[in-house]
Amino acid sequence: MNPAPAGLADPSALYRAMFERNPAIKLLIDPKEGWIVDANPAAVAFYGWDVEQLRSMRIWDINTMHPADIAARLEETRLGKRHRFTFQHRTASGALKDVEVFTGPLSDGGRELVFSIIHDVTERRQLQARMAQTEKLEAIGQLAGTVAHDFNNLLSVVLGYADMLGESLPPEGAHRRPLGELTRAASQAKVLTRKLLGFSRRQPVEKRPFDLAGLTSDLHSVLDRLLGPGIDLNTHLPSPAPVLANPAEWEQVVINLLMNARDAMPSGGAIRLSVCDVELLDDPELHDGTWIELAVADSGSGMSAETLARAFEPFYTTKPPGQGTGLGLATVYNVALHAGGTARIESSPGAGTTVRVLLPPYRSLTK
Ligand SMILES: Nc1ncnc2c1ncn2[C@@H]1O[C@H](COP(=O)(O)OP(=O)(O)OP(=O)(O)O)[C@@H](O)[C@H]1O
Ligand SMILES: [Mg+2]
Repeated sequence: MNPAPAGLADPSALYRAMFERNPAIKLLIDPKEGWIVDANPAAVAFYGWDVEQLRSMRIWDINTMHPADIAARLEETRLGKRHRFTFQHRTASGALKDVEVFTGPLSDGGRELVFSIIHDVTERRQLQARMAQTEKLEAIGQLAGTVAHDFNNLLSVVLGYADMLGESLPPEGAHRRPLGELTRAASQAKVLTRKLLGFSRRQPVEKRPFDLAGLTSDLHSVLDRLLGPGIDLNTHLPSPAPVLANPAEWEQVVINLLMNARDAMPSGGAIRLSVCDVELLDDPELHDGTWIELAVADSGSGMSAETLARAFEPFYTTKPPGQGTGLGLATVYNVALHAGGTARIESSPGAGTTVRVLLPPYRSLTK
């Protein structure tokens, strides 16, 4: 291994000022060997290693790309062929950051260097991903709503004729049973279209102030029955949680989340259901201050990375055909969005799942 090279040959005062006294994250790199030759205080703050540590590291200790690929990018930069890259950089805490790097060749007393200015775009990326998801939800919602609406009308016609047929058939005739099956299937399809209509929200729903903690507490006995004996439900509802929303929709949210938790624990387990105030500061999506959080945490199977990324997508389900529509979490997300909040999932395989739904408190109820 090559020894770490010494610092710069002749750092001018102006260069130092430009390099040091500026909040942009800056690195000076030796393109041949990949050494970090210098780092400014903003880089020290961002990466979490001190200057000496950074100067004893190579850029591939930070950049997650394969060293050979990084060397190729450095060569492109050295030759002035390319100036802008997006990478993932690792920090001392182990966190991965999405960064945009603006870079160019520089020479210091005959020695070739690469000067990079690094922008942390992690939050912007996350926000863009969430906005794309919201737009997708809106588009699918509109489409689903149109189809469901027309489909619902056709099913009413099917059920109407089935009813008429039923009245004209003899009570014990051979056609009774198939007709009963037909009616049952059409009724189930109607339940599904109602779900779809609920999800697409073509009709505006009425909002009123209510206590989300109270509503959750009132549901307790129903929930207990829905969950069955193998599941231990703990509720934590420390104080009233006033919100302005549609209570029927929020009952659905709670039930959807509890049903998902139950399904993730086929051989039993524990669920913690809580409604409480949380203080947010510097959240990438929601403003600073008090929010009401409805959280459902289970000790079940957890989600794979793919499921976690797609769980809020309408019609995404890992359940066998006929058992899941994939509309549960999409509805939860939509309802939260329309109440001025959002929903988030923390989950990993084998480690259970926590879904947090955040919504703004309704102030005038607390006064
Ligand atoms: N608590 C949970 N634990 C593990 N996986 C979950 C949990 N909640 C949701 N999932 C996963 O996310 C997928 C989507 O959930 P969602 O509620 O949207 O649909 P579903 O439960 O499959 O069907 P539906 O709710 O419409 O009956 C599920 O199929 C499951 O894979
Ligand atoms: Mg579900």
